[in-house]
Amino acid sequence: MRACLWRRCNFRSHKSLRLFSISPASHDRVDVARLLSQQTEADGVDVNGWVRSLRRQKKVAFVAIGDGLTLESVQAVLKPEDAAPLSTGAAVRLTGSWQASKGSKQSHELQVTQVAILGANDAEHNPLQPKYQTPEYLRTIPHLRPRIPANALLLRLRSQVIASLTHFFSQQGFVQTHTPIITSSDCEGAGEVFTVSSNAAKESEQRPKPKDAAQVEHFFRTPKYLTVSAQLHLEALAQAVDKVWTLSPSFRAERSDTPRHLSEFYMLEAELCFTNDLSDVMAVVEKMLVAIASDLLSSHTGAELLKAREASQSEHSDATDSLTATDLKARWTGLASGAWPRITYAHAITLLQTAAADSKATFAFEPSYETGLQAEHERWLAAHVGEEKCPVFVTDYPAVQKPFYMSPSSASESSGVDEQNTAACFDLLVPELCELAGGSLREHRGDDLRKAMEAKGVEGSGLEWYQDLRKYGSVPHGGFGLGFDRLICYLSGVGNVRDVVAFPRWVGRCEC
Ligand code: 4AD
Ligand code: MG
Repeated sequence: MRACLWRRCNFRSHKSLRLFSISPASHDRVDVARLLSQQTEADGVDVNGWVRSLRRQKKVAFVAIGDGLTLESVQAVLKPEDAAPLSTGAAVRLTGSWQASKGSKQSHELQVTQVAILGANDAEHNPLQPKYQTPEYLRTIPHLRPRIPANALLLRLRSQVIASLTHFFSQQGFVQTHTPIITSSDCEGAGEVFTVSSNAAKESEQRPKPKDAAQVEHFFRTPKYLTVSAQLHLEALAQAVDKVWTLSPSFRAERSDTPRHLSEFYMLEAELCFTNDLSDVMAVVEKMLVAIASDLLSSHTGAELLKAREASQSEHSDATDSLTATDLKARWTGLASGAWPRITYAHAITLLQTAAADSKATFAFEPSYETGLQAEHERWLAAHVGEEKCPVFVTDYPAVQKPFYMSPSSASESSGVDEQNTAACFDLLVPELCELAGGSLREHRGDDLRKAMEAKGVEGSGLEWYQDLRKYGSVPHGGFGLGFDRLICYLSGVGNVRDVVAFPRWVGRCEC
């Protein structure tokens, strides 16, 4: 006898679910992935989802229903008259029986007896049309873009990576913390800041100044800014619980119009106390990315990413999408392998200069110690220093290129760098994408920090509290920041960071 169970599962309590062999794990709905894994026939099945595609024939209509939780869709078989009001994008609940399919593309299909339109679709005006639409066009409709199955997959990837991270840091004894978005300092050294103001301040510009002018002009009495990095606050919290991490938004008013820059992005940051060895900080970055990549390699999301890439390769091959599924998997295995090379900045410059001199590389900017690494140099290093698709740490950059808070290389136990004017810092470069993360030992000695702040011209700029940290039980420590959206780009193979963030903001663009 065929089981009539799923519709009942939909509406009964968890207690009654236990009576059935197929019971939704945690809530009352049978999602598309679960239905597709069901190899026995059943009556009374309800499927909620959106119409992905529609094929009308004389006596029958085939409707693909997806729910965003998998790339797959369920094939539903309808009478043509029942399918008449449907179009791609409509939200429906289809009721019917789950039966072995006559077609060869799927093992089972839903023979539909009842159609409920939960959300009608204005097919003519829907900006999302069932055809190829360019990435740039899709960026103009970020509120609708996540409905494209490949974009829904990116949301799931992001969620999975956060779960991996949370697990990793918890296992390593790091405390997850929250740092402020509104900050007092505009001088972390990380580019332009956005200033925070209130409506009252704007209105007061048009009126005569009241007595408490300063308070109206500045809600917080003095100018405040959107944070460019959680690091300085994270350092304060690390001194309370030893090891901390956060994943929080950062804001930069840079005018960098590149596939790697956003004005609002998520940065993953961690700080650890009681270390004066830069290798300890790099080890955390490495172990963390090994864990994320290993989780991805063995996950359903990983398998779907590879499948989506294969499909997009065969459908269209525009320049931004030239990465194959094999290349993508090689990125993950390159990360999962760990033990990435670590070279000093000075050595990196020598490698670049030698490659240029031997005509093994051509650069628009000649590599030199003083001018710093350009993106093209980073790209070359990431491609040539390590194994295939393997990241590389570049360490000990000239201190003049780096912010005030970094310790000198000589402070790092195992640095072996003689150069006096370099910082105990690193950048992690990954193939194609270049800089993914940067970190350093932090100057924990009050006097040396003050001198470094003076030298960089940031003393007395609202960072007294940060200097205060060095007065009361300051310990050697270090940390790093990793561009989380860039990581999602790298793991997904999407060529532009604007396409992995649901609501991207960059210079001139903030759609909704
Ligand atoms: O190298 P950055 O500027 O380092 C800091 O801000 C440190 N305070 C972090 C720390 O040590 N806690 O930024 C860290 C990373 C970069 O390596 C890059 O991946 C990413 O953040 N990033 C951006 N990602 C997207 N859009 C931007 N505009 C970015 N700027 C930096
Ligand atoms: Mg950096």
